[in-house]
Amino acid sequence: MSGTANGSVTISLDGTNQTMKLPLLAGSIGPSVADIRKLYGSLGIFTFDPGYGETASCESKITYIDGDEGVLLYRGYPIEALAEHASFIEVAYLLLNGELPNATELSEFDMSVRHHTMLHEQLRRFFEGFRRDAHPMAVMCGVVGALSAFYHDSLDITNPEHRTISAFRLIAKVPTIAAWAYKYAVGQPFMYPRNDLAYAENFLYMMNAVPAEPYKVNPILARAMDRILTLHADHEQNASTSTVRLAGSTGANPFACIAAGIASLWGPAHGGANEAVLKMLGEIGHVSAIPDFIGKVKDRNSNVRLMGFGHRVYKNYDPRAKIMQRTCYEVLDELGIKDDPLLDLAMALEKIALEDDYFVSRKLYPNVDFYSGIILKAMGFPTSMFTVLFAVARTVGWISQWKEMIEDPSQRLGRPRQLYTGPTQRNYVPLAAR
Ligand code: CMC
Repeated sequence: MSGTANGSVTISLDGTNQTMKLPLLAGSIGPSVADIRKLYGSLGIFTFDPGYGETASCESKITYIDGDEGVLLYRGYPIEALAEHASFIEVAYLLLNGELPNATELSEFDMSVRHHTMLHEQLRRFFEGFRRDAHPMAVMCGVVGALSAFYHDSLDITNPEHRTISAFRLIAKVPTIAAWAYKYAVGQPFMYPRNDLAYAENFLYMMNAVPAEPYKVNPILARAMDRILTLHADHEQNASTSTVRLAGSTGANPFACIAAGIASLWGPAHGGANEAVLKMLGEIGHVSAIPDFIGKVKDRNSNVRLMGFGHRVYKNYDPRAKIMQRTCYEVLDELGIKDDPLLDLAMALEKIALEDDYFVSRKLYPNVDFYSGIILKAMGFPTSMFTVLFAVARTVGWISQWKEMIEDPSQRLGRPRQLYTGPTQRNYVPLAAR
């Protein structure tokens, strides 16, 4: 299946009489795309697009972003409405199935997720193979990848039931894996999931509770966590999602594909930015040091970036950042934090950056990660867990995108080409002659 035909664009090879009409395909919203699938066959040339900024790698019905207007839709619903009114599990149903659930569908879906939260008991011992000081993202990559060694009964990607059960297993088990990665690092006993608790609540319980005493999850913090998960649930064809799709295009099993996505998310240009924002704020230290820091960011030779600012697609305020900022106030208020020096610093930094021509002219605005670190720190998460949390939320998006790809009859092995600039063929020179 491809988008609707919407005219064509003609290209010609200068210096020859060769021309070609490229069909233009229209989606339901957003810019049309030129279909270049027959380009090499007709004109013998490829396209060049490092970073894929101008390339639609697939057709998708899941998430839409208008980067100029700062719009984010999951299955057509604005992120603001979902963050305000829907639970994360409702959003997960929506992303996976395409429609909002009715009450019965939601309750059945929720129950299915709750009944898959436990890990195989042998996987529990898998954690002990890691060093205590391992970064929890390293543990996430390893343990999520290892799920395919434990759940052989759902690995047939051609079987729709297997695909569904793998999706439930991944969505249900990543919070348990994430919480256990944390518990392992701090040397506390693993807390088994509690299926009487809702998704975000259960995650906070497994993170914070200890067997020695009762623990009650703060409902305001659980709601904030639920909203943070919703904000991170999907974001169309970003680096980690594209990694999941590329791995999936080979027919690899979904656990392996999601492990690949986690590895891709880890980098500071992507999911690792929330951790990097807090590190940056710590290094700046005080409002008085902001001008000096901004000077370094603007210095072409410094390689310093304002973390939590800028986005490949958004050339406007990231709509998730606005909701995150509001959530930040709610959490700090609930925790009785009247003056948070980090928040003050972040706000001063944001204000200065938004007025500075360097950032204005490049359309650099705060992204989702600018405020998330402050909230998570206030909630007691160590910085090393920030990207892990992103991975927990994004698992829903990854598995929805993977499922859509597997069910798309036009899906092919992902295999980009290149502009080769290395040596042309040359003769081997024996070692003695070099
Ligand atoms: N600080 C300073 N300058 C920046 C920044 C920044 N954060 N982001 C972009 N620029 C400048 C860049 O130097 C370039 O300037 P010039 O044209 O003079 O060379 C211009 O803006 C365009 O930058 P680019 O690197 O071509 O843009 P990109 O689309 O490749 O980068 C980005 C997108 C997210 C990697 C980048 O904005 C960045 O590194 N931001 C900081 C890291 C960050 O917050 N990442 C989280 C993204 S949101 C979460 C997620 O979805 O993963």
